[in-house]
Amino acid sequence: MSRVTFVAGKLGTWRIESIAAICGEGVGPAERLERIEAPQFLSPPEGGWRLCGVRSNERYTEKSERERLIAIQPPLDRMESVCASLIPIKKSEAWWALAQDERRRLFEERSKHLSIGIEYLPAVARRLYHSRDLGEAFDFLTWFEFAEKDASAFDELLRRLRDTEEWSYVEREVEIRLRRDRARD
Ligand code: HEM
Repeated sequence: MSRVTFVAGKLGTWRIESIAAICGEGVGPAERLERIEAPQFLSPPEGGWRLCGVRSNERYTEKSERERLIAIQPPLDRMESVCASLIPIKKSEAWWALAQDERRRLFEERSKHLSIGIEYLPAVARRLYHSRDLGEAFDFLTWFEFAEKDASAFDELLRRLRDTEEWSYVEREVEIRLRRDRARD
């Protein structure tokens, strides 16, 4: 199982520019953040906080969709990706009470999550982590990286997704915007 810890405190590659509680309770303030994929979870830093998740199998992606994604999705840690966003999300009990096929229908047929998202590839690189089965406060930790010039496209993507029926099941969402001081060497 591939584990991730997002550690927010005084240290880290990413400078926290803003933390906005979009829906429900926010998270505490911090100066910097690091995303660490490692065999074990890391401890919370002094005076800061951490969020834990795991990479997991896909739930809703069909074969042809996966092939489209694989063909176009960029890797994380590109040189030009000086902007990033960590968006932890919790969905309601009503969502989790639905059957798998109802959730798939809401996710794609009714809300077009993947169809909308794919329009923003390869500008936006993404990684989805699952937290619900760890008993964490959020169900998902979503991570995105992009170049400065694509920041407004990312804002538009967020607006479009938050307007969907799928998002009516989101009961807690925090948008953390990050920047690294300069492009990677
Ligand atoms: C950048 C373009 C995006 C693409 C191509 C994309 C694509 C996908 C795909 C294919 C899945 C399903 C994975 C599976 O089969 O289990 C997924 C799940 C998810 N995405 Fe996105 N996404 C994008 C942007 C976003 C954004 C901006 C957010 C948050 C604001 C987000 C939040 C989520 C969440 C929370 C899930 C898990 C849904 C669930 O399992 O109930 N995605 N995304």
